[in-house]
Amino acid sequence: AAQPLTDPFGRKITYLRLSVTDRCDFRCVYCMAEEMTFLPRAQLCTLEELAEIGAAFCELGVTQIRLTGGEPLIRRNVQSLFHQLGALPSLKDLTLTTNGSHLAQYADELKKAGVKRINVSLDTLQQERFKALSRTGDLQQVLAGLEAAKSQGFSAIKLNAVILRNRNFDEVVDLVEYAHRNQFDISFIEEMPLGHISEHGRGEEFVSSEDILNCLKQHFAIQPSGYSTGGPSRYWQLAEGQTRVGFISPHSNNFCGDCNRVRVSAEGKLLLCLGNEHSVDLKAVIRAHPGDREKLKQAIVDAIGIKPERHHFEHDDVQIVRFMNTTGG
Ligand code: GTP
Ligand code: 5AD
Ligand code: SF4
Repeated sequence: AAQPLTDPFGRKITYLRLSVTDRCDFRCVYCMAEEMTFLPRAQLCTLEELAEIGAAFCELGVTQIRLTGGEPLIRRNVQSLFHQLGALPSLKDLTLTTNGSHLAQYADELKKAGVKRINVSLDTLQQERFKALSRTGDLQQVLAGLEAAKSQGFSAIKLNAVILRNRNFDEVVDLVEYAHRNQFDISFIEEMPLGHISEHGRGEEFVSSEDILNCLKQHFAIQPSGYSTGGPSRYWQLAEGQTRVGFISPHSNNFCGDCNRVRVSAEGKLLLCLGNEHSVDLKAVIRAHPGDREKLKQAIVDAIGIKPERHHFEHDDVQIVRFMNTTGG
């Protein structure tokens, strides 16, 4: 059957990143400013509205949904959303991106709802650094969350590490060793210019994927791997063991040509590209036409018609107004 969500550049949209809240219990220095204001609760989609959006996308051919935030697991009763989405018949892959702080308490429920893969942010294994980077986070809680997830036997657990020159660049080998010991995968992410953060110099802190790979090559036998989740990460593989090492390189390797994804923010804005401001207000459509899924689907189909071709993070002057926590990665 024809894929209803095909954009003007011929890309088929099969992957939805659904942000359940813009709030987070951490304040990672590259993600949020020290003083942030969050959306008033009335402006958020209800969990039912988020489930309705997920169902509409599935009927339009989306087969993968990743829940993101902010921190998804701090939204009250979020498990009900996982269960509703997990029950959608055409959904092949329900996944979660989390900071891990509440994972110990939710791992079991997530497994039951049908979540198979989990991505957990982990930028450092050093307690003091973790505190400095996340401002309000606690490393031990995250490590406990990872242990709990591991014992649930998810099919894949991936660590995400944003590498910053003066914060954790010296830890890339330790992070890979930790992943290897625990049979996790790990992705290294180039920092993206989302939201202005005055106390954090994105320029001085930037580390390219190539610099990280060169470091790793001095310590590990590592080779390119054909593995792909359909996302932007390019994977390598340790010669010994199963651990895959991914690189998400929005600056040094543009992957927009293969983009299969769109995002919905916690306030129900359909964001057509992480690196552009284009959006369509799906919550307004739902609230103007309650219960009318066809109206919602038509709004989604129309929106795909304005998906931008690519982001331009390689230009030094590009700066997106939105912060990552309102974008959902
Ligand atoms: P899967 O593809 O589902 O395996 O996961 P992922 O690694 O893409 O997702 P995750 O939520 O773990 O995100 C890791 C990083 O990739 C985050 O910093 C995201 O912002 C980034 N990312 C994900 N998709 C895109 C994209 O389409 N464009 C850009 N520039 N970054 C992306
Ligand atoms: N650039 C790159 N990655 C970011 N993340 C948060 N903010 C940024 C940014 N500005 C990462 C988090 C998490 C993932 C969803 O996005 O560390 O792992
Ligand atoms: Fe929270 Fe994730 Fe942003 Fe850190 S990167 S502040 S954990 S949303």
